[in-house]
Amino acid sequence: MNYIIEEELELAEEPEEVLNSADTSLQEVEQILSSSHSPFKTSIFPVLIINRQLRIIYANEACKHMFMGFKNLPGKYFFDLFGKAFGIEDARKIRDTILNGGNGFSWKGTAHLKTRDTVSVQIRVYIFPLEMDLSAPSDFVVMFDDFTEENKKLLRSVFLSLLEASKLKDNDTGKHIIRVNEYSKRFSQELFKIGGEAYKRIDADFIDNIGFLAAMHDVGKIGTPDDILNKEGPLSDWEWAVMREHTKNGAFILSTYPNPMAKEIALSHHEKWNGAGYPFRLEGDMIPLAARIVTIADVYDALRMERSYKPSINHEVSIQKIFESSGTHFDPNLVDVFKNITNDFKKIYDNNKD
Ligand SMILES: [Fe+2]
Ligand SMILES: [Fe+2]
Repeated sequence: MNYIIEEELELAEEPEEVLNSADTSLQEVEQILSSSHSPFKTSIFPVLIINRQLRIIYANEACKHMFMGFKNLPGKYFFDLFGKAFGIEDARKIRDTILNGGNGFSWKGTAHLKTRDTVSVQIRVYIFPLEMDLSAPSDFVVMFDDFTEENKKLLRSVFLSLLEASKLKDNDTGKHIIRVNEYSKRFSQELFKIGGEAYKRIDADFIDNIGFLAAMHDVGKIGTPDDILNKEGPLSDWEWAVMREHTKNGAFILSTYPNPMAKEIALSHHEKWNGAGYPFRLEGDMIPLAARIVTIADVYDALRMERSYKPSINHEVSIQKIFESSGTHFDPNLVDVFKNITNDFKKIYDNNKD
Protein backbone atom coordinates (compact mmCIF):
# COMPACT_ATOMS: atom_id res chain seq x y z
CA MET A 1 0.00 0.00 0.00
CA ASN A 2 1.01 3.51 -0.66
CA TYR A 3 0.61 6.49 1.63
CA ILE A 4 1.11 10.18 1.16
CA ILE A 5 2.13 11.81 4.36
CA GLU A 6 0.69 15.23 3.99
CA GLU A 7 -0.08 16.58 7.40
CA GLU A 8 2.51 18.29 9.50
CA LEU A 9 2.89 18.40 13.22
CA GLU A 10 4.22 21.43 15.00
CA LEU A 11 7.12 20.34 17.14
CA ALA A 12 9.40 22.58 19.17
CA GLU A 13 12.12 24.09 17.01
CA GLU A 14 15.21 22.15 16.13
CA PRO A 15 17.94 22.85 18.68
CA GLU A 16 20.67 25.24 17.44
CA GLU A 17 23.73 23.27 18.46
CA VAL A 18 22.45 20.27 16.61
CA LEU A 19 21.65 22.25 13.49
CA ASN A 20 25.21 23.56 13.43
CA SER A 21 26.89 20.19 13.71
CA ALA A 22 28.29 18.65 10.56
CA ASP A 23 25.82 16.89 8.28
CA THR A 24 26.49 13.33 7.28
CA SER A 25 26.57 13.18 3.51
CA LEU A 26 24.53 10.68 1.57
CA GLN A 27 27.82 9.29 0.28
CA GLU A 28 29.01 8.50 3.77
CA VAL A 29 25.77 6.72 4.57
CA GLU A 30 25.95 4.83 1.28
CA GLN A 31 29.42 3.74 2.32
CA ILE A 32 28.17 2.45 5.66
CA LEU A 33 25.24 0.71 3.99
CA SER A 34 27.49 -1.03 1.48
CA SER A 35 29.57 -2.46 4.32
CA SER A 36 28.32 -4.85 6.97
CA HIS A 37 25.01 -3.05 7.45
CA SER A 38 23.79 -3.61 3.91
CA PRO A 39 20.71 -5.65 4.91
CA PHE A 40 18.90 -2.33 5.32
CA LYS A 41 19.27 -1.71 1.61
CA THR A 42 17.52 -4.88 0.57
CA SER A 43 15.25 -5.25 3.57
CA ILE A 44 11.58 -5.95 2.89
CA PHE A 45 10.89 -3.53 5.73
CA PRO A 46 10.83 0.13 4.75
CA VAL A 47 13.95 1.69 6.25
CA LEU A 48 14.95 5.33 6.55
CA ILE A 49 18.25 6.63 7.77
CA ILE A 50 18.00 9.91 9.64
CA ASN A 51 20.74 12.03 11.12
CA ARG A 52 20.94 13.79 14.48
CA GLN A 53 19.31 16.82 12.90
CA LEU A 54 16.33 14.53 12.26
CA ARG A 55 16.75 14.97 8.52
CA ILE A 56 16.11 11.99 6.31
CA ILE A 57 19.26 11.10 4.42
CA TYR A 58 18.33 7.77 2.91
CA ALA A 59 15.20 5.75 2.05
CA ASN A 60 15.48 2.13 0.89
CA GLU A 61 13.50 0.58 -1.98
CA ALA A 62 10.86 -0.91 0.32
CA CYS A 63 9.79 2.63 1.25
CA LYS A 64 8.16 3.03 -2.13
CA HIS A 65 5.61 0.36 -1.18
CA MET A 66 4.57 2.37 1.84
CA PHE A 67 5.22 6.00 1.01
CA MET A 68 4.26 7.88 -2.12
CA GLY A 69 6.92 10.22 -3.39
CA PHE A 70 9.53 8.26 -1.46
CA LYS A 71 12.28 9.48 -3.81
CA ASN A 72 11.77 12.92 -2.34
CA LEU A 73 12.12 11.74 1.24
CA PRO A 74 15.86 12.51 1.60
CA GLY A 75 16.43 16.02 2.83
CA LYS A 76 13.04 16.32 4.54
CA TYR A 77 12.70 16.95 8.27
CA PHE A 78 11.55 13.62 9.72
CA PHE A 79 8.79 15.08 11.87
CA ASP A 80 7.40 17.26 9.08
CA LEU A 81 6.44 13.98 7.45
CA PHE A 82 5.82 11.64 10.36
CA GLY A 83 5.09 13.89 13.33
CA LYS A 84 1.35 13.49 13.07
CA ALA A 85 1.68 9.71 12.69
CA PHE A 86 3.47 9.49 16.05
CA GLY A 87 1.60 12.14 17.98
CA ILE A 88 3.29 14.88 19.96
CA GLU A 89 4.24 12.77 23.01
CA ASP A 90 6.06 10.06 21.08
CA ALA A 91 7.61 12.60 18.73
CA ARG A 92 9.18 14.33 21.74
CA LYS A 93 10.42 11.01 23.13
CA ILE A 94 11.99 10.10 19.79
CA ARG A 95 13.77 13.42 19.56
CA ASP A 96 15.00 13.07 23.11
CA THR A 97 16.26 9.53 22.47
CA ILE A 98 18.20 10.65 19.42
CA LEU A 99 19.69 13.74 20.99
CA ASN A 100 20.34 12.57 24.52
CA GLY A 101 20.58 8.80 24.35
CA GLY A 102 18.77 6.60 26.82
CA ASN A 103 17.76 3.02 26.00
CA GLY A 104 20.93 2.75 23.91
CA PHE A 105 19.78 5.58 21.64
CA SER A 106 16.88 3.32 20.66
CA TRP A 107 13.12 3.72 20.54
CA LYS A 108 10.32 1.28 19.80
CA GLY A 109 6.68 2.19 19.38
CA THR A 110 3.76 2.44 17.00
CA ALA A 111 2.61 5.02 14.49
CA HIS A 112 -0.64 5.55 12.67
CA LEU A 113 -0.71 6.73 9.06
CA LYS A 114 -3.94 8.14 7.75
CA THR A 115 -5.20 10.01 4.73
CA ARG A 116 -8.66 10.49 3.26
CA ASP A 117 -7.90 8.28 0.25
CA THR A 118 -6.15 5.42 1.99
CA VAL A 119 -7.18 3.00 4.70
CA SER A 120 -5.43 3.64 8.04
CA VAL A 121 -2.13 1.88 8.54
CA GLN A 122 -0.74 0.81 11.86
CA ILE A 123 3.00 0.41 11.93
CA ARG A 124 5.53 -0.70 14.48
CA VAL A 125 8.54 1.58 14.36
CA TYR A 126 12.05 0.75 15.54
CA ILE A 127 14.71 3.43 15.79
CA PHE A 128 18.34 2.61 16.63
CA PRO A 129 21.84 3.83 15.75
CA LEU A 130 23.18 2.93 12.32
CA GLU A 131 26.55 2.12 13.88
CA MET A 132 26.23 0.44 17.22
CA ASP A 133 29.72 1.13 18.53
CA LEU A 134 29.57 4.91 18.72
CA SER A 135 29.05 6.67 22.02
CA ALA A 136 27.22 9.54 20.29
CA PRO A 137 25.79 8.13 17.09
CA SER A 138 25.28 10.56 14.24
CA ASP A 139 22.90 8.45 12.13
CA PHE A 140 19.89 6.35 12.98
CA VAL A 141 17.96 3.58 11.32
CA VAL A 142 14.16 3.98 11.30
CA MET A 143 12.54 0.66 10.46
CA PHE A 144 8.81 0.28 9.78
CA ASP A 145 6.71 -2.86 10.10
CA ASP A 146 3.10 -2.60 8.84
CA PHE A 147 0.89 -4.76 11.07
CA THR A 148 -2.49 -3.42 9.91
CA GLU A 149 -3.63 -6.62 8.23
CA GLU A 150 -2.75 -9.01 11.05
CA ASN A 151 -4.40 -6.71 13.55
CA LYS A 152 -7.53 -6.35 11.43
CA LYS A 153 -7.75 -10.09 10.81
CA LEU A 154 -7.51 -10.88 14.49
CA LEU A 155 -10.10 -8.29 15.48
CA ARG A 156 -12.53 -9.18 12.74
CA SER A 157 -12.28 -12.94 13.29
CA VAL A 158 -13.78 -12.51 16.75
CA PHE A 159 -16.75 -10.59 15.37
CA LEU A 160 -17.18 -12.94 12.43
CA SER A 161 -17.61 -15.79 14.91
CA LEU A 162 -20.26 -13.76 16.64
CA LEU A 163 -21.99 -13.19 13.33
CA GLU A 164 -21.88 -16.92 12.59
CA ALA A 165 -23.48 -17.59 15.98
CA SER A 166 -26.29 -15.12 15.30
CA LYS A 167 -26.90 -16.62 11.84
CA LEU A 168 -27.74 -19.94 13.49
CA LYS A 169 -30.78 -18.23 15.00
CA ASP A 170 -31.82 -15.66 12.43
CA ASN A 171 -33.87 -16.86 9.49
CA ASP A 172 -32.27 -14.36 7.07
CA THR A 173 -29.83 -16.03 4.73
CA GLY A 174 -26.07 -15.73 4.84
CA LYS A 175 -26.23 -14.11 1.40
CA HIS A 176 -28.41 -11.31 2.83
CA ILE A 177 -25.60 -10.06 5.05
CA ILE A 178 -23.02 -10.37 2.26
CA ARG A 179 -25.27 -8.28 0.02
CA VAL A 180 -25.94 -5.66 2.71
CA ASN A 181 -22.18 -5.27 3.13
CA GLU A 182 -21.76 -4.84 -0.61
CA TYR A 183 -24.61 -2.33 -1.06
CA SER A 184 -23.39 -0.27 1.91
CA LYS A 185 -19.84 -0.25 0.61
CA ARG A 186 -20.94 0.77 -2.88
CA PHE A 187 -23.18 3.48 -1.44
CA SER A 188 -20.31 4.88 0.63
CA GLN A 189 -17.97 4.92 -2.36
CA GLU A 190 -20.52 7.08 -4.15
CA LEU A 191 -20.79 9.44 -1.18
CA PHE A 192 -16.98 9.60 -1.01
CA LYS A 193 -16.97 10.81 -4.62
CA ILE A 194 -19.50 13.52 -3.76
CA GLY A 195 -17.52 14.50 -0.63
CA GLY A 196 -18.10 18.03 0.65
CA GLU A 197 -19.25 19.07 4.10
CA ALA A 198 -22.16 16.61 4.26
CA TYR A 199 -20.01 13.57 3.64
CA LYS A 200 -16.69 14.68 5.08
CA ARG A 201 -16.74 11.72 7.49
CA ILE A 202 -16.58 9.35 4.55
CA ASP A 203 -13.03 8.33 3.82
CA ALA A 204 -11.25 5.11 2.87
CA ASP A 205 -11.61 3.82 6.45
CA PHE A 206 -15.36 4.48 6.50
CA ILE A 207 -15.80 2.52 3.27
CA ASP A 208 -13.66 -0.36 4.51
CA ASN A 209 -15.46 -0.49 7.86
CA ILE A 210 -19.03 -0.27 6.60
CA GLY A 211 -18.21 -3.05 4.11
CA PHE A 212 -17.57 -5.30 7.08
CA LEU A 213 -19.86 -3.93 9.78
CA ALA A 214 -23.14 -3.53 7.85
CA ALA A 215 -23.50 -7.31 8.13
CA MET A 216 -23.67 -6.96 11.91
CA HIS A 217 -26.92 -4.96 11.89
CA ASP A 218 -29.03 -7.80 13.28
CA VAL A 219 -26.45 -9.47 15.49
CA GLY A 220 -28.61 -8.55 18.51
CA LYS A 221 -31.20 -11.12 17.38
CA ILE A 222 -29.01 -13.64 19.17
CA GLY A 223 -30.92 -12.47 22.26
CA THR A 224 -34.41 -12.65 20.73
CA PRO A 225 -36.44 -15.72 21.81
CA ASP A 226 -36.89 -18.26 18.99
CA ASP A 227 -40.68 -18.34 19.26
CA ILE A 228 -40.82 -14.60 18.51
CA LEU A 229 -38.09 -14.66 15.88
CA ASN A 230 -39.68 -17.55 13.96
CA LYS A 231 -43.34 -16.79 14.61
CA GLU A 232 -45.55 -17.22 11.54
CA GLY A 233 -48.11 -14.45 11.39
CA PRO A 234 -48.33 -11.07 13.07
CA LEU A 235 -46.57 -10.31 16.34
CA SER A 236 -48.52 -9.03 19.33
CA ASP A 237 -47.59 -5.66 20.89
CA TRP A 238 -45.38 -7.14 23.57
CA GLU A 239 -43.75 -9.50 21.07
CA TRP A 240 -42.90 -6.45 18.94
CA ALA A 241 -41.47 -4.77 22.01
CA VAL A 242 -39.21 -7.79 22.56
CA MET A 243 -38.30 -7.88 18.86
CA ARG A 244 -37.28 -4.22 18.89
CA GLU A 245 -34.79 -4.99 21.65
CA HIS A 246 -32.48 -6.56 19.06
CA THR A 247 -31.19 -3.10 18.23
CA LYS A 248 -30.09 -2.38 21.79
CA ASN A 249 -28.77 -5.90 22.29
CA GLY A 250 -26.72 -5.55 19.10
CA ALA A 251 -25.27 -2.25 20.28
CA PHE A 252 -24.40 -3.86 23.61
CA ILE A 253 -22.73 -6.85 21.93
CA LEU A 254 -20.75 -4.62 19.57
CA SER A 255 -19.78 -2.05 22.18
CA THR A 256 -16.31 -3.61 22.49
CA TYR A 257 -15.62 -3.13 18.78
CA PRO A 258 -13.06 -0.30 18.57
CA ASN A 259 -14.93 1.62 15.87
CA PRO A 260 -18.25 3.13 17.10
CA MET A 261 -19.73 2.54 13.65
CA ALA A 262 -20.48 -1.06 14.68
CA LYS A 263 -22.65 0.07 17.55
CA GLU A 264 -24.29 2.85 15.52
CA ILE A 265 -25.40 0.45 12.80
CA ALA A 266 -26.82 -2.13 15.22
CA LEU A 267 -28.59 0.47 17.33
CA SER A 268 -30.04 2.73 14.63
CA HIS A 269 -30.77 0.65 11.52
CA HIS A 270 -34.53 0.76 12.30
CA GLU A 271 -34.68 4.49 12.96
CA LYS A 272 -36.61 6.52 10.38
CA TRP A 273 -35.79 9.94 8.97
CA ASN A 274 -39.16 11.32 10.18
CA GLY A 275 -38.66 10.10 13.74
CA ALA A 276 -41.12 7.20 13.52
CA GLY A 277 -38.52 4.45 13.92
CA TYR A 278 -37.06 2.60 16.88
CA PRO A 279 -35.56 2.21 19.45
CA PHE A 280 -35.24 5.96 20.21
CA ARG A 281 -37.35 7.66 17.54
CA LEU A 282 -34.28 9.59 16.37
CA GLU A 283 -34.90 12.08 13.57
CA GLY A 284 -32.93 13.22 10.52
CA ASP A 285 -29.23 13.84 11.08
CA MET A 286 -29.51 12.55 14.64
CA ILE A 287 -29.39 9.11 13.07
CA PRO A 288 -25.74 8.23 12.40
CA LEU A 289 -24.86 8.33 8.70
CA ALA A 290 -23.65 4.72 8.62
CA ALA A 291 -27.00 3.56 9.99
CA ARG A 292 -28.93 5.65 7.42
CA ILE A 293 -26.95 3.98 4.64
CA VAL A 294 -27.43 0.47 6.02
CA THR A 295 -31.18 1.12 6.44
CA ILE A 296 -31.59 1.65 2.69
CA ALA A 297 -29.38 -1.36 1.90
CA ASP A 298 -31.24 -3.59 4.35
CA VAL A 299 -34.72 -2.57 3.19
CA TYR A 300 -33.84 -2.91 -0.50
CA ASP A 301 -32.60 -6.44 0.16
CA ALA A 302 -35.53 -7.35 2.39
CA LEU A 303 -37.88 -6.32 -0.44
CA ARG A 304 -35.97 -8.37 -3.01
CA MET A 305 -35.77 -11.49 -0.80
CA GLU A 306 -38.37 -14.17 -0.76
CA ARG A 307 -39.47 -14.94 2.79
CA SER A 308 -41.93 -17.42 4.25
CA TYR A 309 -44.52 -14.65 4.59
CA LYS A 310 -43.85 -12.75 1.31
CA PRO A 311 -42.78 -13.32 -2.28
CA SER A 312 -39.69 -11.74 -3.82
CA ILE A 313 -40.33 -8.22 -5.19
CA ASN A 314 -38.58 -7.29 -8.42
CA HIS A 315 -35.90 -4.61 -8.68
CA GLU A 316 -38.05 -1.90 -10.28
CA VAL A 317 -40.84 -2.16 -7.71
CA SER A 318 -38.32 -2.33 -4.85
CA ILE A 319 -36.51 0.86 -5.83
CA GLN A 320 -39.86 2.57 -6.44
CA LYS A 321 -40.88 1.76 -2.86
CA ILE A 322 -37.64 3.28 -1.58
CA PHE A 323 -38.16 6.44 -3.68
CA GLU A 324 -41.69 6.77 -2.27
CA SER A 325 -40.40 6.64 1.30
CA SER A 326 -37.79 9.36 0.74
CA GLY A 327 -38.06 11.87 3.58
CA THR A 328 -40.27 9.62 5.67
CA HIS A 329 -38.44 6.33 6.22
CA PHE A 330 -35.20 7.27 4.45
CA ASP A 331 -32.80 10.22 4.35
CA PRO A 332 -33.95 12.14 1.22
CA ASN A 333 -30.39 13.19 0.34
CA LEU A 334 -29.27 9.58 0.41
CA VAL A 335 -32.24 8.50 -1.70
CA ASP A 336 -31.16 11.07 -4.32
CA VAL A 337 -27.73 9.44 -4.39
CA PHE A 338 -29.32 5.98 -4.39
CA LYS A 339 -31.10 6.91 -7.63
CA ASN A 340 -27.70 7.01 -9.38
CA ILE A 341 -26.57 3.60 -8.20
CA THR A 342 -29.70 1.44 -8.38
CA ASN A 343 -28.16 -0.60 -11.21
CA ASP A 344 -25.24 -1.49 -8.95
CA PHE A 345 -27.68 -2.64 -6.28
CA LYS A 346 -29.38 -4.85 -8.85
CA LYS A 347 -26.02 -6.30 -9.91
CA ILE A 348 -25.02 -7.02 -6.32
CA TYR A 349 -28.32 -8.83 -5.74
CA ASP A 350 -28.04 -10.81 -8.97
CA ASN A 351 -24.43 -11.79 -8.30
CA ASN A 352 -25.16 -13.00 -4.77
CA LYS A 353 -28.53 -14.67 -5.13
CA ASP A 354 -29.77 -17.05 -2.42
FE1 LIG B 1 -32.91 -5.35 12.44
FE1 LIG C 1 -31.26 -7.42 7.59
